[in-house]
Amino acid sequence: MKRVDDFRLRFGRQELVPIVVGGMGVDISTAELALEAARLGGIGHISDAMVQTVSDRRFDTKYVSAKLKQYKYNIANSDKSEVKFCLDTLAEATRSHVGRTMEAKRGDGLVFINCMEKLTMNGPRDTLRTRLTAALDAGIDGITLSAGLHLGSFALIEDHPRFRDAKLGIIVSSARALSMFLRKNARLDRLPDFVVVEGPLAGGHLGFGMDWAQYDLATITDEVIAYLKSEHLEIPVIAAGGIFTGSDAVGFLERGAAAVQVATRFTVTEECGLPDKVKQEYFKASEADIEVNTLSPTGYPMRMLKGSPGIGSGIRPNCEAYGYLLDANGRCAYIDAYNREVALHPDAKKLSVKDKTCLCTHMRNFDIWTCGQTAWRLKDTTHKRADGSYEVLSAAHVFRDYQFSTDHQIALPPR
Ligand SMILES: Cc1cc2nc3c(=O)[nH]c(=O)nc-3n(C[C@H](O)[C@H](O)[C@H](O)COP(=O)(O)O)c2cc1C
Repeated sequence: MKRVDDFRLRFGRQELVPIVVGGMGVDISTAELALEAARLGGIGHISDAMVQTVSDRRFDTKYVSAKLKQYKYNIANSDKSEVKFCLDTLAEATRSHVGRTMEAKRGDGLVFINCMEKLTMNGPRDTLRTRLTAALDAGIDGITLSAGLHLGSFALIEDHPRFRDAKLGIIVSSARALSMFLRKNARLDRLPDFVVVEGPLAGGHLGFGMDWAQYDLATITDEVIAYLKSEHLEIPVIAAGGIFTGSDAVGFLERGAAAVQVATRFTVTEECGLPDKVKQEYFKASEADIEVNTLSPTGYPMRMLKGSPGIGSGIRPNCEAYGYLLDANGRCAYIDAYNREVALHPDAKKLSVKDKTCLCTHMRNFDIWTCGQTAWRLKDTTHKRADGSYEVLSAAHVFRDYQFSTDHQIALPPR
């Protein structure tokens, strides 16, 4: 019976354990978590979502309060188009997040950064170019482009000295999205080094509509592999979404995937950035507690626990402090929903906004509990204590369980 450890992910002559811990913003996949995956010979991800906010928490910088001070005059204004990011500050925050992580890297694995196109930051092209450039400058091993088609993202960094040596890849949910990306970038003569195929059971935003349940990862993985073969392209394919056991992973490696990307099982590890209380919510979740909804202002469906405190909250938009989801015109679907409720209930002391959520604020505060569809099985991966709480795991334990387990077994942590 095969184990994940019988396979290797190959980038040229470099061989890696074919386990990728996926990016989880905002700082849910911390540097500590990514570094553990790299130490153990796989690939870990940090994320650049809300990097200035993350830097404040990690390094005690004051980016958020400085931005808020600069734009304080605009708080009561529903037009947020003036609330821009300073590109130098953004670059500085990205360089220190990435640089200090890379300095701490040990072992044979790699650390990548997850960059979501949907973080449009009231200046999509310039802010994305700044984020990508700064991550390369600071020595990141690779970049995973996500949450968007990224048709123009490679071109933003084509002149960077590391454009051809860093590992660059993209997350897609269909062979069609991949073919669009490749066609659009053909003139650059630079293929992606890897393609993550993310199916409908993943955490975070989904690359599907609300009909997500009609798709399945195995079929899409086969389609992407067949498409690459038909184009005579040898690009490693990494399957993601709902892979819960080492045997699930082996199933994908045997059908031609070069690696798997996993995340949900790492949400309940010590290294994960979620507060301990929230980790317990993930452990406790039942299948009925998980939903896919359209609350995210990005327009992509998102999977989360129904008990997330951010659902239905009607807080005032915090774009002056954050503003990561403001589109090219300084708009966000939450601002519109919030203003509609203010107009409907002008005298209300407390508002509730049911159809959208202020994702920046609630992800920052760990109040939107996004998770994969398998989160309800987390309770079976550890011991329950006498007081009803669950023992948090180490990332190394979960990583090794994926790497060495057989027969769909899940090793419980040592007592
Ligand atoms: C808590 C959480 C947060 C996530 N955040 C992001 C993100 O910021 N960007 C992204 O591209 N994917 C995100 N994902 C998706 C993961 O990187 C990964 O591809 C997917 O969840 C793998 O499926 P699994 O969770 O079933 O193992 C997130 C997943 C989880 C569970």
